[in-house]
Amino acid sequence: MFGKEKTTLPPRPTDVQGLLRLYNTKGIDGLGVGELSKIHHLVGGDRELVEARIRAETRQFWNQDIVGFRMGEEGQGKPKFADMMQVLGVGAQMVGHIKPRKGSIVSSWGDGGGFDARYFRKSQPVKYLSYDDSRGANGLARTRLDRLGMPHEIVDYNFYDPFPVEKRRRISEQHPGAPALDYSSWALTYTDPETMTRIIKGAIKNGSTAEEFWLHMLEAGKFDSKALGIAFMTQIFPRDIAKPGKTRQTLRALFAVPAMINFGEKFQRYSPLWTVAELKEELGQRGLKVEEVGKTLFDQSVVARVTLS
Ligand SMILES: C[S@@+](CC[C@H](N)C(=O)[O-])C[C@H]1O[C@@H](n2cnc3c(N)ncnc32)[C@H](O)[C@@H]1O
Repeated sequence: MFGKEKTTLPPRPTDVQGLLRLYNTKGIDGLGVGELSKIHHLVGGDRELVEARIRAETRQFWNQDIVGFRMGEEGQGKPKFADMMQVLGVGAQMVGHIKPRKGSIVSSWGDGGGFDARYFRKSQPVKYLSYDDSRGANGLARTRLDRLGMPHEIVDYNFYDPFPVEKRRRISEQHPGAPALDYSSWALTYTDPETMTRIIKGAIKNGSTAEEFWLHMLEAGKFDSKALGIAFMTQIFPRDIAKPGKTRQTLRALFAVPAMINFGEKFQRYSPLWTVAELKEELGQRGLKVEEVGKTLFDQSVVARVTLS
């Protein structure tokens, strides 16, 4: 009689409309990752109901919450994501699948601080365009690209803005005959199929020589930040820790593991992860063909080539 009254929680909704109502009252933190992913994957009219809110929450996440850890400088300050990426060599694996042509105009959509530009150096881009709308990422991209000595332009651009047609034309005219190479690593696939299609078709069509667009993407259901931590501990750490000149770098990556796992879990709440099969279908319905070309990150990430179908 005097004990705590037993409260029975209302049953969780399983249908999208019920989840939408829950999202609209409780926001991102009121839903589990699986429930959120149903909302992230809404397309068409249903998505419009929550789109503005999802976009605002996602932008806040990329701009504020995460900039220091996700996009900070490797080798400096607290161990961070870039330390891990450097040790894993994921950017090199991705560029190995893309096989850039010499003297290209490289556009990196959602560049996140110019980290991967170094892996294009061998192919001597005539210009590296870093597109992102995070102020922190753009500042870092400027520093990294200046340091690399690669001709570049940092473009403050949001995926939901109209495609930057004029910029595209101007750069192509400045470098007549230079092949265009467009890619998005772990960025554009965190949006919806309409947005992806608009940017991919924009890049392929607008007065440029591009015939394809490269997506480097984490795949829904395959990405597991804990598995990544284990792979690092069992494969990379024992291999590299005693290598001459690599000890500090490897230790920094080791100390980044807990924050990597935390980040990996947090970002899935803010961004949708698509499977390759889903993208094939969604982009296929919009006139694009998606082909898987290779894998990176212990097979948890995919490099896909997208062309007009
Ligand atoms: C996970 S990071 C990827 C960074 C880098 N490409 C890499 O592979 O390491 C995602 C990047 O996409 C950017 N981004 C996310 N949504 C965006 C949007 N709507 N418009 C422009 N950039 C966006 C973020 O600011 C962030 O820099």
